[in-house]
Amino acid sequence: MDRPAATVLVTGVRAKTGRPLATSLAGRDDVTVRGGSGDPAAVDVPDVEPVAFSWDDPTGWDAAVRGVDGVYVVRPDRPDAPALIGDLLARTAPHTRVVLLSDLDAGFGGADRWSLRVEEAVRDSGRPWVALRPGWFAQVLTDPRFYLGPIVEDGELPYPAGDAALSWIDARDIAAVAEVALLDPAYDGRLLTLTGPAAYTLPETASLVSQALGRPVVHRDQTVAEATSGGEGFQLALDTVTFERVRAGVFALVTDTVTEVTGRPARRFEDYVTEAFSRVATTENSGSPR
Ligand SMILES: NC(=O)c1ccc[n+]([C@@H]2O[C@H](COP(=O)([O-])OP(=O)(O)OC[C@H]3O[C@@H](n4cnc5c(N)ncnc54)[C@H](OP(=O)(O)O)[C@@H]3O)[C@@H](O)[C@H]2O)c1
Repeated sequence: MDRPAATVLVTGVRAKTGRPLATSLAGRDDVTVRGGSGDPAAVDVPDVEPVAFSWDDPTGWDAAVRGVDGVYVVRPDRPDAPALIGDLLARTAPHTRVVLLSDLDAGFGGADRWSLRVEEAVRDSGRPWVALRPGWFAQVLTDPRFYLGPIVEDGELPYPAGDAALSWIDARDIAAVAEVALLDPAYDGRLLTLTGPAAYTLPETASLVSQALGRPVVHRDQTVAEATSGGEGFQLALDTVTFERVRAGVFALVTDTVTEVTGRPARRFEDYVTEAFSRVATTENSGSPR
């Protein structure tokens, strides 16, 4: 490839999209990857240079962005995100390409136009930019902080979707799109709405999980208030509006943008579920700790 060598900062390098993105970029001869984390000592992605990066500590930002040609920004879900991202990008060289992890419903804006203002901060940076607007990640089902516990321990998937469907997307496809967007100027200035190849109701989702796990898993519908109980402040407001939009069917949208950008179809949700929950079942059967 006759592209000049590039250095890319991947924020959230330990997260669902940052890890596969950094892994793939690090496999290229012409890209040096810096992996940002609040806990750089815990960064274990091969051939990635760990760097301290926290939205809470701007003193580390200059070192994190020094000499970079591209930045993958995992949106921090906090009220001051537009200002924080603007401050970070002001420290980058003007040619630095920025790929923002936003979300499918960002065009709605939510309270105070927050998600739109995050995207505007990137656009107004003057840097070449791309905003990724993915739907719900399939990987939230296997995230111990969210649904893995109820699925494995209680045989249920509590989720306030009503009859609405979701076009679950594999986070590895978001990473694949981010990789192209970071390296190829063809997508500059685009809002890329990313979804899986089909939408599934929650009973259908639970049924697929059940098949892969080899025991019953049922969907338990919730009210939005039940699903968000225990939350507070900004996060509560964000989660509430997100689940209300889920119930309204907004996240059933299916696009072919993954195919357009990567040249191959988006991964099938049922393949992710089979792969991930068969592994959970195998781990349980072998008696190993999860
Ligand atoms: N999950 C979904 O289904 C979904 C769908 C659409 C859009 N999104 C959006 O995508 C973004 C990321 O979501 P996610 O589910 O991928 O999150 P995640 O898996 O929880 O990862 C968040 C990452 O942020 C890093 N982080 C946490 N606190 C930080 C801080 N103070 N400063 C810098 N980094 C910090 C963490 O890295 P370290 O611990 O290494 O610092 C972690 O790697 C959010 O804006 C979310 O709204 C998510």
